[in-house]
Amino acid sequence: MRGIDVIQIPTTLLAMVDSSIGGKTAVNHPKGKNLVGRFHQPSQVLIDPVFLETLPDREIRSGLAEVIKYGVIADAQLFELLESKDLDALSLEDMVEIIARCATTKAYYVEKDEEDRKGIRAALNYGHTLGHAVESLSKHVLNHGEGVAIGMIAAAMISKENDLMSETEYLRIHNLVEKYKLPSKIPALDHSELIEVMHRDKKAEEGKLRFVLPTGIGREPVLRYVEDETVKRVLEEI
Ligand code: GLY
Repeated sequence: MRGIDVIQIPTTLLAMVDSSIGGKTAVNHPKGKNLVGRFHQPSQVLIDPVFLETLPDREIRSGLAEVIKYGVIADAQLFELLESKDLDALSLEDMVEIIARCATTKAYYVEKDEEDRKGIRAALNYGHTLGHAVESLSKHVLNHGEGVAIGMIAAAMISKENDLMSETEYLRIHNLVEKYKLPSKIPALDHSELIEVMHRDKKAEEGKLRFVLPTGIGREPVLRYVEDETVKRVLEEI
């Protein structure tokens, strides 16, 4: 059905705030997540937060990792909203606000760089360089948001060490991840294998790992090549 029109009706928080918007479609390959795919914009995205009532907490938390991502890369108020609550305190009204804020940020990046070629949309991959590798190497025992949570902390640590963000901002990200009971530490996975998997990811280029490095809370991140040695050291530290 090449190129069939599609309307996305997301039923997970993760899909509502991220993957249903922007036209990325893909399937996983044994060598990595989402390695076979193309861009195909949906003709509509219909989000009904009532679906969230059917989701297990672990799935909500997985979506909240992406919400934290939006807070860091673009929306300090959203980050503060999450800091002021916890999972049990988030009402359906809060969820409506959260989803709307995330969808707005997502649309902003997609409009500026629809096919992810200009290094602008890449900001949405904050936490994903390591996150995808953790997800793949754990054979999806850790889900997407859990991998992204660890990846956000690793990237924030690289930022802190390079004076791109303060220790306080790093700690706020770390604490928010823990507050929503997302993993903040690398599980028992081989660090060299993690680096190998990151090199096979489509975000790696010319033999170098590319990371989205935050520059503060609610501020546009930067895209930087990071040496394997630095990544190895950060993997040991977190
Ligand atoms: N989830 C990242 C993107 O859509 O670009």
